[in-house]
Amino acid sequence: VLESLKGLNRGRLSIAVASTVNYFAPRLLAIFQQRHPGVSLRLDVTNRESLVQMLDSNTVDLVLMGVPPRDVEVESEAFMDNPLVVIAPPDHPLAGERNIPLARLADEVFVMREEGSGTRQAMERFFSERGQKIRHGMQMTRNEAVKQAVRSGLGLSVVSLHTIELELETGRLVILDVEGFPDRRQWYLVYRRGKRLSPAASAFRDFVLTEAPAIAAPYWPRP
Ligand code: PGA
Repeated sequence: VLESLKGLNRGRLSIAVASTVNYFAPRLLAIFQQRHPGVSLRLDVTNRESLVQMLDSNTVDLVLMGVPPRDVEVESEAFMDNPLVVIAPPDHPLAGERNIPLARLADEVFVMREEGSGTRQAMERFFSERGQKIRHGMQMTRNEAVKQAVRSGLGLSVVSLHTIELELETGRLVILDVEGFPDRRQWYLVYRRGKRLSPAASAFRDFVLTEAPAIAAPYWPRP
């Protein structure tokens, strides 16, 4: 306790985050580093599949991700809302329409993330649970690529609200008001079950669980 009050003066902490988490993770790291300047931090940014591998091989202290694994024994704690929304270019015919029925999306093409993506997994689950077929368009391995593709008219997509803060501010993308959305999901802090957290890791865990929402909750445009 005393150590965490004074600030940890040494230690190494390796954190891995989903590419979608990277939109706010550096903000958390910056504040944590100010409070604990002696801790040396390392951040890996990758997709869900690689995060699961890192947990499995025990090569990372803590992971921040959207869909905790089931096939690896982990502790996972939800720490913040992660709303998934349907995005479109601002000149799309459905932009500005209220309560768009899910069935209307059958005529649209969706830009897809790669197979190992947690966002893609969540999106596919959302539609299949509701018996809604969607047409897969181009597939891309980065959120940035997906956003550019949607902006360029290649289709709609489903992304975490955290990833489109700047595009909403500048009006380059819009959120469609589709039935059932936002898909209310959560971000999780995850580590291997039975792992003994170092003082630095456990200070970071406490920090994320108690303070992340106040620091990193996304800008939420009211319709
Ligand atoms: P991803 O991130 O789509 O980049 O994999 C989200 C997640 O882990 O669920």
